[in-house]
Amino acid sequence: ADPRVRAILKLAPVIPVFTPDNIDDAVQVAHALLRGGLPVIEVTLRTPNAMEAIKAMVEAVPDAVVGAGTVLDAKQLEQLKAAGGRFAVSPGATDRLYAAARDADLPFLPGVATSSELMRGLEYGLDTFKFFPAVQAGGAAMLSAWNGPFGDVRFCPTGGISAQTASQFLHLPNVLCVGGSWLTTRELLQARDWTKIQQLAREAAVLPG
Ligand code: 3PG
Repeated sequence: ADPRVRAILKLAPVIPVFTPDNIDDAVQVAHALLRGGLPVIEVTLRTPNAMEAIKAMVEAVPDAVVGAGTVLDAKQLEQLKAAGGRFAVSPGATDRLYAAARDADLPFLPGVATSSELMRGLEYGLDTFKFFPAVQAGGAAMLSAWNGPFGDVRFCPTGGISAQTASQFLHLPNVLCVGGSWLTTRELLQARDWTKIQQLAREAAVLPG
């Protein structure tokens, strides 16, 4: 297992999942989240300039730990490495993606939603996963059940989690942190409300776990 993955997930209780629309604002978001106490940021590769946004955030906010989410293929892993991204998150994983992540030598957090998907990841030598989509795929009860057969595995549940529900996941012994987009909603980004984003980060950074 790659110890870098757990080290990143232990930096803060929440990983904001951020979908940038433009590069300048992405830098402002990184500043706000870091100031609020959340250094780890997952930037989804769902917008045309997401990779450019990662590059700009890495350069302008070097104390942030910026990675990519929604990683689907090997090409994105190479681009992410070139951009200075520190980790890759995927909604699921294929044999090709596992092999590509190993070749790219980037900390990789693949998404799993079933026991068999988890077991495939274990076969590739990983021990830490994104549980996605967390609420839809069984929520905290699912993670509690997995703690029996897979007691050494650790998770970052993401998907459907809010500031109000994060703690029920963070209390679980097999959860290192949670992911969520509630800190960087479309509304907050359109309003360019960096103050509010920083405040939400400050609240998330002290969520009880
Ligand atoms: C992700 O890509 O991880 C999800 O879109 C985040 O889920 P959320 O928007 O429900 O927090």
